[in-house]
Amino acid sequence: MHKKTIPYFILLSLFVMLSCTSEKQDSSTGVMDRFIDDLMNQMTLEEKIGQLTLYTSDMDHTGPFIRDHYLEDIRAGRVGAIFNAYTADYTRELQRMAVEETRLGIPLLFGYDVIHGHRTIFPIPLGETASWDMEAIEESARIAAREATAEGLHWTFSPMVDVTRDPRWGRIAESSGEDPFLTAQVARAKVRGYQGDDLRDLHTMLATAKHFAAYGAPQAGRDYHTVDMSELVLRNKFLPPFKAIIEEDIATFMTAFNDLFGVPATGSEYLLTQVLREEWGFEGFVVTDYTSINEMVPHGFARDDKHAGELAINAGVDMDMQGAVYNDYLAELVEEGKVSEATIDQAVRRILLMKYKLGLFEDPYRYSDPQREAELVMTEENLEFARDFSRKSIVLLKNDDNVLPLSDDVRSIALIGPMADNQRDLIGSWSAAGDYTKSVTLRQGIINRQGERTRINYALGTTVLDEDRSGFAAALRAAAQSDVVIMALGEHYWQSGEAASRSMIDLPGLQEELFDEIVKLGKPVIVVLMKGRPLTLENLDEKASAILETWFLGTTTGDAIADVLFGDYNPSGKLPVTYPRNVGQIPIFYNARNTGRPKSEGKFTSKYLDVSNSPLYPFGYGLSYTTFDYSDIRLSTTQMPINGTLEASVTVTNTGDRFGEEVVQLYTRQLVGSITRPLMELRGFEKITLDPGESREVTFELTWKDLAFYNANNQFRAEPGEFHLFIGTSSAEVKQTAFSLME
Ligand code: GLC
Repeated sequence: MHKKTIPYFILLSLFVMLSCTSEKQDSSTGVMDRFIDDLMNQMTLEEKIGQLTLYTSDMDHTGPFIRDHYLEDIRAGRVGAIFNAYTADYTRELQRMAVEETRLGIPLLFGYDVIHGHRTIFPIPLGETASWDMEAIEESARIAAREATAEGLHWTFSPMVDVTRDPRWGRIAESSGEDPFLTAQVARAKVRGYQGDDLRDLHTMLATAKHFAAYGAPQAGRDYHTVDMSELVLRNKFLPPFKAIIEEDIATFMTAFNDLFGVPATGSEYLLTQVLREEWGFEGFVVTDYTSINEMVPHGFARDDKHAGELAINAGVDMDMQGAVYNDYLAELVEEGKVSEATIDQAVRRILLMKYKLGLFEDPYRYSDPQREAELVMTEENLEFARDFSRKSIVLLKNDDNVLPLSDDVRSIALIGPMADNQRDLIGSWSAAGDYTKSVTLRQGIINRQGERTRINYALGTTVLDEDRSGFAAALRAAAQSDVVIMALGEHYWQSGEAASRSMIDLPGLQEELFDEIVKLGKPVIVVLMKGRPLTLENLDEKASAILETWFLGTTTGDAIADVLFGDYNPSGKLPVTYPRNVGQIPIFYNARNTGRPKSEGKFTSKYLDVSNSPLYPFGYGLSYTTFDYSDIRLSTTQMPINGTLEASVTVTNTGDRFGEEVVQLYTRQLVGSITRPLMELRGFEKITLDPGESREVTFELTWKDLAFYNANNQFRAEPGEFHLFIGTSSAEVKQTAFSLME
């Protein structure tokens, strides 16, 4: 039983009042350091280890197992943070236990996977990235933080910044796709949205860069599998988004499950100390992924949990998620001299600093406020933003004969398929506290927009998975009775996300067979896809009249899709990932290198016997209901001084009869390098709006940093020489010019 002392947040208030001077900002830093020093001087080794321990509550399950005595652990001061616990009331109760029932009353951190919205659910990250709208992405994170902090949360395990080129990997759904530059821009926007300018602001929360590092490149696309790559590829393709958000003052990093260079990321001194701390100067704290310390034993890198704990803390891991390894063994390891108390103190300080910055020592209950919860969660304003953001994430993949947009006066629509009237799948994987019963189905969205004007002949047709043709006849009848057919096809939400890799990425079940039967009727067939990854769609691309990629759009799905179907919004999304023709092409991505035998008509060149090298849909691709014309590129110079700048401009014209948005993309290619360089690399983009007939000049300014890469000596350098520069509407449709980078 602990001797009762005055809870620390009361002591802090006194401490701050006594210590404050007129230079509040400077002294507040001094005050913060002195407060942490003073608190740590009070702490026993066990209490310090408690701060390094994170357990899940049983309110949500996001991993292999739950410990059933986390409440007892909180009361005993053996826990510093809890995840998967939210609502103002529940967090307040858990916080009360920590603050009032432990010796020092150190407040808990509450973390959760707020990945694409908290209660109001936005498009899955792959979908939000398809908007290429960084302001909208930042605002979605800001709204998510406002809702999450209104429910007592302090910390989100987002953004996931794992670059990936493998749609077999289920977590591609949570990613921003294959490009490091685009992933970095999205990650920056999300961190700004979550963390704002001041962590003491009640509407802001700690963000997490995950999963460090290279988790998105598992062998064969199988989740948790081995990752093997060169340090060149790691530095140039997979680390840049992590490095970029250090500049946004990201608060925490989360280690990846995988090994890299033969070392599990959770025990990698190279990643967690050399790169993250020494090279990048990261000052926040590092948390593991779910029991990833323990998993160094099956990795074959640690003899047992105790050995794993020693490896992790000495590599640079500050907080143990759910593994209880630090709790069980760190004190012993200190006694045995295998872990220094200075190492533990460093980790404890990093965590206490974040609690201080959140204002938890002044008022541990400040985020757990039922009044704010009632006012800020799922407001009309949030839902209105969600609908607009969801529309922007939709990608128009095909639109033969401008079958879309549909006329307001269309008399009858056959609405067929397992995703047409299905609420649960719409909020996707990692939907956290999202309430799918509030999501708007496609069927409801069309009804909301068309009312009695249009007869909707709905037929399920088939389910996502079952080999069941019993619904085909009704679907065919619905199609025969209708002017136009809309087929809503895709995957279940759980077929992507964590632990959801697929070896084949066709439409599951008999959906494609039903599609083939429906198109035989000769009616226009519009396919609306809902899923968490690229699928192999050559057959649909050949036979459908139009195809909309809608990912999982979240709470307002049906209304957002209806807005696009009927032209209230002109689709502007662009693919953040390449769509393969078949699974055998994987990994296929736009920023590949040329090889010594690039594909040509000759036999002995790099190609397949049975499929083209080209993807079905390329990175950056997406159509519009209008058309855009690009002028030739104008350069400010064709000889760019290495310490100077180069301006590249185009004039983009809306040559159609409808307002539209266009994502103007800029790519470069270094023709000769000290290492082989990619055919194209995205170096800039700008989303612009154009009225019919309107023209706009778009200018990009490049410096050497936009041309630089990590060379064989791990130096970030630009190399003088010849470059191609491309600007266009996708990675496959560009204007091209050339320039030289001078010494
Ligand atoms: C999961 C995921 C990670 C998530 C964590 C907590 O295993 O890998 O992304 O943040 O556990 O739920």
